[in-house]
Amino acid sequence: MFTEWKPEFSVGEPILDADHRHLIELLNRLSDHVGPSCSKATIIDNLVQLYSSANEHFAREETIMQAHGYSNEYIKHYADHQRLLNEVILMIYEHQYGSANDNGASTEWIHNWFHEHHTTHDARLQLSIQEAHGT
Ligand SMILES: [Fe+2]
Repeated sequence: MFTEWKPEFSVGEPILDADHRHLIELLNRLSDHVGPSCSKATIIDNLVQLYSSANEHFAREETIMQAHGYSNEYIKHYADHQRLLNEVILMIYEHQYGSANDNGASTEWIHNWFHEHHTTHDARLQLSIQEAHGT
């Protein structure tokens, strides 16, 4: 398991919190559904689901960042979203067309990205939203 939702994960925007809860569910599925014992079809299906949900969530988060006049950090945060999407697309391609079996590295990379993103970029966004709401 990657992690469980905790109240301190809240960024102060209900729609983003709902997205983050859903993404945590998908991240928890990766360990069991993207690994050495999984079929290629299952791995690809789970990676596509993650890509699609993350892509929709990032668009919502980026709109909210812009609404908060989040100019200084916006481009770095946006670039980090793109880094995840690009990597997951490559993983899907490699699982579809490559010969190597999954050794768990994909799940580890994705889990590490989310942990790092949450504790840096999303943590700064959380502060910015809280300041805007005066909380
Ligand atoms: Fe983010």
